[in-house]
Amino acid sequence: MTEPRSVVITGASRGLGFASAVRLYREGWRVVAAMRNLDRGMPLLRAAAGADEDDDRLTGVQLDLTDTASITAAAKSIEETVGAPYGLIHNAGISAAGMVEEADLDLWQRMFSTHVMGPVALTKELLPSMRAAGHGRIVMVSSTGGVRGMPGIAPYSAAKGALDRWAESLAGEIAPFGLGVTVLVSGTYDTDIITDAGTTDDRNFNGPYARIHHTMNSRGRFAIRFARSPELFTGSVVKALHDEGSFRRRGVGPDASSLLIINRLLPASGMHHLPRLVMGIPKKGTMRGGAYPLTASQKVMVAAAKVIPQPVLVRLMSLMPAKPEPDRSEAQ
Ligand SMILES: NC(=O)c1ccc[n+]([C@@H]2O[C@H](COP(=O)([O-])OP(=O)(O)OC[C@H]3O[C@@H](n4cnc5c(N)ncnc54)[C@H](OP(=O)(O)O)[C@@H]3O)[C@@H](O)[C@H]2O)c1
Repeated sequence: MTEPRSVVITGASRGLGFASAVRLYREGWRVVAAMRNLDRGMPLLRAAAGADEDDDRLTGVQLDLTDTASITAAAKSIEETVGAPYGLIHNAGISAAGMVEEADLDLWQRMFSTHVMGPVALTKELLPSMRAAGHGRIVMVSSTGGVRGMPGIAPYSAAKGALDRWAESLAGEIAPFGLGVTVLVSGTYDTDIITDAGTTDDRNFNGPYARIHHTMNSRGRFAIRFARSPELFTGSVVKALHDEGSFRRRGVGPDASSLLIINRLLPASGMHHLPRLVMGIPKKGTMRGGAYPLTASQKVMVAAAKVIPQPVLVRLMSLMPAKPEPDRSEAQ
């Protein structure tokens, strides 16, 4: 009987990484689940996968991507456990909301440590053995937010964009040794990263960007209603590990796939205006000097107020739901 292929997946404690680890285990892979807190994550993962504690097809390794010592120790432990892994999935990630002017520099640091520096360091540790094995696949989980720089999430967008670029560079370097790279451009999935609790929020709802935050917030909240189940993401991970070519970029979910197509068709200026319109960001110059332009729905209300009799208008207003508190949604 042939040995099962081994795969390391980061961020396996929750969300997409957790669901993917379960799927890969069920599909017969030997899974090394990398996570910050093994005591918390592994019992949950084993239970979900249906694996016993002594099952060597599902093992955990402690990994904090912002900690160099943890990365070195994790790589050593991975090689001791499975030798050269066939697959390495860079999935762990964090999200944050806030304009460039608002976002803390520490946040930029953390964002790049988690999405770029940490994964690069782990890859450097594991590449010698993977290269010597002469086969294998490195999979990077990117985002629609990394296809182009999205307003309101610059640190995340920039880090995912950087991840996408180093994935391309790496693919060019390691293909001659028999290794390949796949970037998964993920659409919106229902995990902690798109919630208030799972996002660092640097937005100032009383500052100069308040008008934009309010509109983006309500539109984002509407959009995440369509977030798909994490289980629907896992098929793309399986496909990525079976990819044969030197480099592949896959859109995951209809939102990501369509954005990738639109990004190829529209010029840069079009790709600037598309998210601007979708997010309800006012036109260039309209907020100069502290102006607070009306949103599209406010304009409709003003127009309606001119033609609808006042008693009817008052009645209609009383039927409208109370405005919810700002929350999540610009993230990821
Ligand atoms: N869900 C979406 O809609 C969506 C969309 C586009 C892209 N993505 C990408 O998909 C990937 C997975 O996200 P998710 O949706 O599963 O989010 P999630 O539920 O918030 O999970 C994030 C995972 O990353 C881990 N992590 C965070 N910082 C880490 C660090 N410093 N070292 C090691 N692990 C760390 C977390 O570990 P702890 O449990 O220890 O915190 C957790 O396992 C991310 O790269 C994200 O950017 C997600």
